[in-house]
Amino acid sequence: AIDPQFNENREKVGEENGVAVWGPVDEPEQLGIRGTHVAVDYDICIADGACLEDCPVDVFTWVDTPGHPESERKAEPTKEAQCIDCMLCVDVCPVDAIDVDAG
Ligand code: SF4
Ligand code: F3S
Repeated sequence: AIDPQFNENREKVGEENGVAVWGPVDEPEQLGIRGTHVAVDYDICIADGACLEDCPVDVFTWVDTPGHPESERKAEPTKEAQCIDCMLCVDVCPVDAIDVDAG
């Protein structure tokens, strides 16, 4: 599962599409955690898609990640600023790849 303390235990190494990237990153096999308020561990995500389908405010978009061992696309929390903290995505992700900091 995603580490809920990732922002203390990892370093922010950059941004992609305006979304924070928390390392370590070693493309294409290791992609790190993306996002801060809504965070997706790309190294755990298997592209199930439930988060995209269920988010009521369309926070997520697919991004292609060819060569990643778990899946060739990931759910990017592109519009995390729109999140209403409903926690649906956290509940439906089958591999617990998402953390929402509702605090
Ligand atoms: Fe969308 Fe709710 Fe997840 Fe926020 S907590 S990203 S609003 S599903
Ligand atoms: Fe990935 Fe979980 Fe969404 S596997 S696509 S973060 S439901």
